[in-house]
Amino acid sequence: MSGPQIRPYATAIGAEVLGVDLAQPLDNAGWATIHDAYLEHHVLFFPEQELTPDEHVAFARRFGELEDYPFVHGIEGHPELIEIVKEPDEVINFGHRWHADMTFREQPPAGAVLYALEVPPVGGDTLFANMTLAWEMLSDGMKKTLRELRAIHDSGKPTRHSQNFKGMKMQHKEGSEQQITAHPFVRIHPEAGQESLLICPSYCHRIEGMTDEESTMILDHLERHATQDIFTCRYRWSPGDVVIWDNRCTMHIALEDDLAAIKGGQGFRRRMRRATIRS
Ligand code: OGA
Ligand code: MN
Repeated sequence: MSGPQIRPYATAIGAEVLGVDLAQPLDNAGWATIHDAYLEHHVLFFPEQELTPDEHVAFARRFGELEDYPFVHGIEGHPELIEIVKEPDEVINFGHRWHADMTFREQPPAGAVLYALEVPPVGGDTLFANMTLAWEMLSDGMKKTLRELRAIHDSGKPTRHSQNFKGMKMQHKEGSEQQITAHPFVRIHPEAGQESLLICPSYCHRIEGMTDEESTMILDHLERHATQDIFTCRYRWSPGDVVIWDNRCTMHIALEDDLAAIKGGQGFRRRMRRATIRS
């Protein structure tokens, strides 16, 4: 019997995994193939899956323990799964700026498994960027400078993660608090051993010991550098797609391209279900 087939998706990042049914338990050989591909490509796309919440959790658990999302309630019976919803009249997606997940935590999550329940025929793509490559391709001078610095990652108000989105408002978790952490710009992948760049345009706007203006200048430059086209891939979703990203060496963004909604009308509904893997 043949195992999962890995098909690289872009030169910088991402691979499709074909010939596997994630609703079934993975044998050791299948798991090894997938895990190796995960470390090599950082983001894996599994088309045409059909997962119950239990099966979604079981697959995500192969990568580690799961954790609850701090600001958003889980779905009924599964606190570790949240739904990410954009209603037809909404413009902004959850995750609409370049970011790595929850970098406002001392230990941001290791990754996430996102399952597409409802997506439009076109639009609502997600882009991913390779932060190992982004680090590697900085100049020696910039690397040296960044090694000395730390940046402040700030969650902002807890409501920012739910109340701004009509489709997610109902899921707001009461009692959660703003979280702020300082991180170095370079981090080492605990499994792969490689260095990668840690920035997060969504949560990080200040560098320790610098003015706002200086911080903005450097952080804007790093965002442009890290998200240049050749470091990224862009995924076009179909219902049933499952995607896992390695949050320890990537960033991602949900493209905000619902033009009908932007013009004030009714656009598309988009609904994903997500599990978060603990570091
Ligand atoms: C996320 C996220 C992007 C998307 O789940 O962390 O940013 O495309 N989602 O839904
Ligand atoms: Mn995200």
